[in-house]
Amino acid sequence: MRRLNNEYANAEWDVETNMTNETETKHVQMSIKASRSMKEIAFKAREQQKLHYLRKDTRRRLRLMAQFSDPTDRNVLEQLEKTRSALENIYAAGTLQKDGKVYNMEPELTKLMQEERDPDVLNWAWKGWRNETGKQMKTLYAEMVKLLNLGAVENEFSDYVDAWKKSQFDDTPELLQMCETLWKEVSPLYKRLHAFVRMRLKDYYTEHYPNYKFPTDGTIPAHLLDKDVIERATASDVHLRDARL
Ligand SMILES: *[C@@H]1O[C@H](CO)[C@@H](O)[C@H](O)[C@H]1NC(C)=O
Repeated sequence: MRRLNNEYANAEWDVETNMTNETETKHVQMSIKASRSMKEIAFKAREQQKLHYLRKDTRRRLRLMAQFSDPTDRNVLEQLEKTRSALENIYAAGTLQKDGKVYNMEPELTKLMQEERDPDVLNWAWKGWRNETGKQMKTLYAEMVKLLNLGAVENEFSDYVDAWKKSQFDDTPELLQMCETLWKEVSPLYKRLHAFVRMRLKDYYTEHYPNYKFPTDGTIPAHLLDKDVIERATASDVHLRDARL
């Protein structure tokens, strides 16, 4: 198992650092091999789970090992892994062009989204990237979900969402209720934070880009504050650097 993990990690590294047809095929093959091996373990664990004298702790471990929702049919599994791989490929290989310059996601577009302030340029990058990758992904993504659901149902889950929830949150039937409660707890802070960021951005754009119309409906345009910026906001974003909440 450890050797297989190691081989799989190597194949993953190869495809992520050097995407070629060859590394991609190898990665797909390794994913299938890993899945077959996980399946064996899961099925053994399912058998063992039926024993009635298990300790609670043992039962829990077996339940975790029994987690498996990949399609059983090898061809369907291969189709799933190929679809996943194709999706990653679109994301990794997507580029934008402007004035003869090529923008890859890394590092050019990420850097631009971090440093650029001109709302038109940011909008070009944000929309362009989504059109370039998202549109191509749409059909494949739906195909992937279909195959994931198929595998989940074969493994006696109601669908992939059900399988995913059970794999991430073992024995937590009250999960949705917990999320509701957590959200209620953090949402007042989230709303204040959102309002604060919105105010800062609005001040900034009113001052520096007087022609730009900042929305008045309480939203923040995604291209002015993309996910990357939010993640780094506390440390580096110019609008938030001197935030005092
Ligand atoms: C990239 O992968 C190919 C195989 O498709 C290999 O021949 C080549 O040496 C690899 N390049 C690097 C830099 O690892």
